Amino acid sequence: MKLAVLYDSKSGNTRQAAEWIAAGMERIDGVEARAYYIGELDADYVKDAAGVVIGCPVYAAAMTPDLRVWLQAEAGKLGLAGKLGGAFATEQYTHGGAELAMQSILMIELVYGMLCYSGGAACGRPVIHIGPVAVNGNVEPHNGMEHYEETLKIYGERFAKKAAELFG
Ligand SMILES: Cc1cc2nc3c(=O)[nH]c(=O)nc-3n(C[C@H](O)[C@H](O)[C@H](O)COP(=O)(O)O)c2cc1C
Repeated sequence: MKLAVLYDSKSGNTRQAAEWIAAGMERIDGVEARAYYIGELDADYVKDAAGVVIGCPVYAAAMTPDLRVWLQAEAGKLGLAGKLGGAFATEQYTHGGAELAMQSILMIELVYGMLCYSGGAACGRPVIHIGPVAVNGNVEPHNGMEHYEETLKIYGERFAKKAAELFG
């Protein structure tokens, strides 16, 4: 079963998060997961994927303009209806607005007919309500991408497990 993680990223944090989510997905037997920058994706691979997770950096407490344009202009060509969908984000402030960015991504996934999934409280700790968030170390010395590696991998694992239950 194929899964995809699609992301926007300017300085690499969100690319790193996407790669960790994909690595977590591959903890489930039989899963192949690939992470793609939205400008360089393999459309045939994404069309074949049973699930797609989409993420970006938070810009002004919202998704990036590039991701919104891509979601509205290009994502509709990928046959997303009926696929499992998820969202993630990176930010530089703990209270920087990641939930708002993810909520907007999930809303567009619903519009395309995707089945949105976060794992939610049902999976226990780490509890991930909307989607996983990584806060980088740009301005908060107690934070840093490395603190979120395992949570991102666990999210990918949960997402892949649910996709396997539904489509495997
Ligand atoms: C134009 C712009 C707006 C941003 N707005 C926010 C914000 O509202 N909240 C926040 O926490 N971080 C904000 N950031 C920081 C980025 O979200 C953060 O550094 C992110 O991890 C960058 O991801 P990337 O390395 O994948 O590009 C902003 C960065 C830029 C360039």
